[in-house]
Amino acid sequence: MRKPLALSNWKMAMTLAQTRAFIREFLPRVADLVERVEIVVCPPYTAIHTLAEALRGTGISVGGQDLWPGPGEAHTGAISGPLLVDAGATWVMVGHWEVRRRLGEDDPAVNRKVRAALDAGLRPILLVGEPYGEPFDPDRLATLLAGCSGEEITRMAFVYEPEGAIGRAEPVSPAHVAAGCRAIRRWIIQRHGEATAEAVRIIYGGSVTPEHAGALLADPDVDGLGASRRGRDPVAFAQIVRQIAELHRR
Ligand code: PGA
Repeated sequence: MRKPLALSNWKMAMTLAQTRAFIREFLPRVADLVERVEIVVCPPYTAIHTLAEALRGTGISVGGQDLWPGPGEAHTGAISGPLLVDAGATWVMVGHWEVRRRLGEDDPAVNRKVRAALDAGLRPILLVGEPYGEPFDPDRLATLLAGCSGEEITRMAFVYEPEGAIGRAEPVSPAHVAAGCRAIRRWIIQRHGEATAEAVRIIYGGSVTPEHAGALLADPDVDGLGASRRGRDPVAFAQIVRQIAELHRR
């Protein structure tokens, strides 16, 4: 039975003071839920250490929002997997549309980040979904996951996130969400077998709100939700986590 997952991506926001305020508000609201829902918060790099120290022993994990895929030190402005681990991260997001567009990354480039994360001992959170105006092609996972074993895939989590769903007033429809998550699971079943696919958490991200969470979670192939704007709001994110805990009793 897989534990559902709640992901909060803070993007380029949240000072250290706001980080501490978030923890004070959020922790008491989810203290009874951490056994039932895996919670991962991905702050900006500047807050990883502060957040990881404050969350030590709570069962809530911290992740990076991106990482540099190569070795060496001559990469001014970049952060490697080992530096993320040193700061207290155990997860790292890879393939977010905003990062892909900013850096001009294609699927092989995202695959190099997946590999770098695994090699550093981080658990990759792979974001995948259709670009604007195109259908979702789950077969792009062949490139995104090139060189990854089934065992490595079970260490990962997947976020189905259509590019056009980010930063809107409303998420895409629950049927669209379920179809996307199911397509990812089907692809993993075909390539890596039922046991691997059953172990993997596949969640949805894109304009998630507490008001929409229940409907988005109705399909058993949706293992949780990720949020950014609502993920930075401790009250809203706790409400989302509670709905994940209540709806997912597998
Ligand atoms: P949003 O962002 O929740 O603010 O729409 C989602 C994302 O970019 O992952």
